[in-house]
Amino acid sequence: MINKELAAKINYQINRELYSEYLYLSMSAYLEDRGLPGMANFMRVQAEEEHFHAMKLFNYLNERGGRVVLDAIEKPKTEFDSPLAVFKESLEHEKVVTDLINKLMDTAISVNDHAARSFLNWYVDEQVEEEDSFNTILDQLELIGGKGHGMLMLDKELGARTFTPPAEEE
Ligand code: FEO
Repeated sequence: MINKELAAKINYQINRELYSEYLYLSMSAYLEDRGLPGMANFMRVQAEEEHFHAMKLFNYLNERGGRVVLDAIEKPKTEFDSPLAVFKESLEHEKVVTDLINKLMDTAISVNDHAARSFLNWYVDEQVEEEDSFNTILDQLELIGGKGHGMLMLDKELGARTFTPPAEEE
């Protein structure tokens, strides 16, 4: 049976991943409204990834004999200063999530739960990818100053993103 404190933190992380899904959907809606369907697609796919992150934790907590207790998902921001601001805020959001994952790992280590450590390693690696992906787009947006022809080129590129569920290691 999983440690109670660890189970509660995993349960909380499910909520944070679902909030991430909601936040990226909100960003997608904003970008769609700004005439950037490719960037909107990128954020919709990101939202799908976040749903996957939530469900992976959901399934794991069930598997370990914990009880998933869903909580309210807070309202995401709906207005942003610019498409550039959206990507800046995404990166900041991912840094917060990385911090949460690291704290979750600290708890798994402190209660000596080797199985949970192994499971959470996937999230540790995933956060490196998430931050890198937003960082790269942000660098590109800053290069083109968030406007002009470059914006349309980047929008086209981000429109090609699709969601592929990562293969389950179990
Ligand atoms: Fe689920 Fe973007 O971290």
